[in-house]
Amino acid sequence: MKNVLIAPSILSGNFAAMGEDVLDMARIGADWIHIDVMDGVFVPNLTFGFKMISDLRPISDMFFDAHLMIADPIRYVERFVKSGAQLVSFHYEAEKDIDGALDIIKKSGCKCGLAINPDTPVDVIAPYLHKLDLILVMSVFPGFGGQKFIDGSLERIKQAAELRDKYAPNALVEVDGGVNEGNAADIAAAGADVIVAGNAVFGASDRKKAVDILRKGKNL
Ligand code: DX5
Ligand code: ZN
Repeated sequence: MKNVLIAPSILSGNFAAMGEDVLDMARIGADWIHIDVMDGVFVPNLTFGFKMISDLRPISDMFFDAHLMIADPIRYVERFVKSGAQLVSFHYEAEKDIDGALDIIKKSGCKCGLAINPDTPVDVIAPYLHKLDLILVMSVFPGFGGQKFIDGSLERIKQAAELRDKYAPNALVEVDGGVNEGNAADIAAAGADVIVAGNAVFGASDRKKAVDILRKGKNL
């Protein structure tokens, strides 16, 4: 199987020691840090905002992948870019002016991504593909870590990868939710380039081993 990037989600880390968790992810060789921002409106949960990211920024040069699960993200995307995220994704379902929000992120010199919920048809991303650096395919309904990977997500990852190959060959396909050692190889084979993992990394007794297995496939 091809090598994928592993993006541990600090949603599953210790909120009283986020800096230590980020440093730990760098130490074990994780590729990106996935930062789940929730507003209690778009999703029924609350996490943290841009101050968290700007406070974490000086302690590590890791790639910060901010996943905004917030209503009307256009109001805040610029502040997330300024906080030090290298990539800012928001949800198709949460924003009326998708082009406008993508343009703000890009103009600020940041990479941009568009996320789609499990019940949103994959082809809604088509009009935006030429602008996207990343397509974020949710394999659970956003809001909480530790949920089960939804059946049928592999097919959606394949669809996203096909659209990417045709219209946005430089964009990455990221998969988020319910990834574990048992399904990571199939997710990569379906076309994922970046795999988000919360519980599978932070819940593991050996986090480095968990990242290595997710990246290389169980049998390697
Ligand atoms: C869900 C978040 C995910 C979540 C993944 O709303 O966007 O990033 O933290 O956690 P696991 O890997 O435990 O499903
Ligand atoms: Zn996420």
